[in-house]
Amino acid sequence: ATIPQFVEPLVIPATMPLARREGTPQGPIDVYDIAVRQFSQRMLPTPLPLTTVWGYGPTGQGRDTFHAPSMTIEATHGTPIRVTWRNELVDDRRGYVSHLLPVDPTLHWANPERRPGVHGAVTDTKPDFSGLRYVPPREFTDPTTQYTLYSGPVPLVTHVHGAAGVGDESDGYPEAWYLPVASNLDTAYAPQGAWYEFFRAKAKAKFGVDWAPGTQTAHYPNTSSECTLWYHDHTLGLTRLNVYAGPAGFFLVRGGPEGEDGVLDSRTRKPAVLPGPEKGQGQGKAPVRDIPIAIQDRSFNDDGSLFYPDARAIFDEYAGPFVPDTPVPPAWNPEFFGNTLIANGRTWPFLDVEQRRYRLRLLNGCNSRFLILDFSQIPGVKVALVGNDGGFLPEVHDVMADGGRLLLGTAERADVIVDFHEVPHGNHVLGNVGPDAPYGGGEPGTDFEVAAPGTTGRVLQFRVGPRRGADGSTPIEFLQLPARAALPAEMRTRRVALLEHEHGTGDEAAPTAALLGTLEERDGRVEAVARTWMDPVTENPAPGDTEVWEIFNFTPDAHTVHVHEVLFEVVGRQGFALVDGRLEMSAEHPVHPGERGRKDTVIAYPGQVTRIRATFSTAGHYVWHCHVLEHEDNEMMRPYRIGPVQP
Ligand code: C2O
Ligand code: CU
Repeated sequence: ATIPQFVEPLVIPATMPLARREGTPQGPIDVYDIAVRQFSQRMLPTPLPLTTVWGYGPTGQGRDTFHAPSMTIEATHGTPIRVTWRNELVDDRRGYVSHLLPVDPTLHWANPERRPGVHGAVTDTKPDFSGLRYVPPREFTDPTTQYTLYSGPVPLVTHVHGAAGVGDESDGYPEAWYLPVASNLDTAYAPQGAWYEFFRAKAKAKFGVDWAPGTQTAHYPNTSSECTLWYHDHTLGLTRLNVYAGPAGFFLVRGGPEGEDGVLDSRTRKPAVLPGPEKGQGQGKAPVRDIPIAIQDRSFNDDGSLFYPDARAIFDEYAGPFVPDTPVPPAWNPEFFGNTLIANGRTWPFLDVEQRRYRLRLLNGCNSRFLILDFSQIPGVKVALVGNDGGFLPEVHDVMADGGRLLLGTAERADVIVDFHEVPHGNHVLGNVGPDAPYGGGEPGTDFEVAAPGTTGRVLQFRVGPRRGADGSTPIEFLQLPARAALPAEMRTRRVALLEHEHGTGDEAAPTAALLGTLEERDGRVEAVARTWMDPVTENPAPGDTEVWEIFNFTPDAHTVHVHEVLFEVVGRQGFALVDGRLEMSAEHPVHPGERGRKDTVIAYPGQVTRIRATFSTAGHYVWHCHVLEHEDNEMMRPYRIGPVQP
């Protein structure tokens, strides 16, 4: 069935209601109580069926207020937030619900099953494939084979992406997952991941707050200046499926010296006015001219349910003939590309706008897809990039100078002021000229085939109408963004690597995992050493240290590298080759103006080293990983420790 486009309005997420505000000797803390539940929502336009999804929402409210993406958490710079996150993936009789999507049982994942031997992720052991027979995908659905898709309760753990200075107990460590409290849960399942009790004890000692079963309580200091963050599930080996099923939302920090408080109108040297919530706007009202938009790709079954391949959909293409007795994860896909785009949880919505300025917080919330948003089809529009992941850029960047194109790797955000003053009344489409395939860099149409013009080549439609009332926001050309002090010089440089494990060679090669590792010199020879999730920590800066990480990408595709706990500077990129144990460096590549300021996720291009600089502040046990969700779920994630390796 074809999906009609531009018939449903864009959903603007409401503001997440506070449970209460608590006074402490250090000042107020905003307290939230947030659950993840299963519900159905309109993702496809009427008259197509509703879609069952998961999402976050205020514990005190019914499922009808829940949505994916979920309500926006509005944080203020300097005011801490405490959230109790609850796993409430249960049905009306409080029995657990199982996953909406096919869970590959052979990955090293947050498997709550207490079955010994097979994957054993409950205890800290490496996955053991030795007893498993490789089963080709077509046989895979045959119940007589030894693989069965996991159908138990669903583990969850929440991470606020880009929140810097957060203690590790609050960061949502992938093995600190927990199951819902459910009536049908028995001792066949471990209720929590291996690290849950460790962080629970730490949180109790630090904040005097205990974690009830089925919950985690996290504390976010909001010391960063104004920025566009997002929160999402981060369960080990399951993030691609959990986030695909819905649990994600925006977390906006407002204010701060490098935030809106510091943006000036260059004519008056007084604070500028950005389009957004009217001053004094209360909780629960969505700001209508400051609109967060999460862009994702999805596929659907005819009954409206979400589709995600239950076998390696691209296996034939990659692998040729099947090789028995090899540890190829049968239902893991190296990447996923849906055949629709959704914006804030709906396929191809429209947004009514007036001929005035809007502030849009654009998020690439896709699993694997890199987006190249295309504003060039909107006549007369002006688009100014004012911020990225970590807050405002040092200078406004004119997106129209890039031909109206804005590249967003997975998990990256763009804070843009879109000026519709000169756009003619009528309907105009925001396009996407990124590929329907892994991204490797380069120009749309020249270096790669762009997304399907009628479907994944479209994001949403702006319906431009006349302006009612004056536009009091500062025109783009007069915006003067706040300066930000450069990070100190690094005391150390680390070389890390992005690698791929393959089974077979040449055209027959099948990626079986994406890996991180280090670049090491042994006997005068440089080599890349792959490491898995379970290998000991290799990155361990001391608190207060500034380091440069050189990320060498040995794979054929671009990856998005995300480091928890810090905001970093993108220092530069350079081509390289590793020839006979020697590194040969080549041309330097400029940092795009939109990557200046502070980032938490950076695109690492194939054949290049990408250099980032960060000051590590808060001692603890964190992760860094690729934000292609299929990759992070299958070994492209590593623990790292700020402070001594032994806690
Ligand atoms: Cu957006 Cu570690 O994740
Ligand atoms: Cu990756």
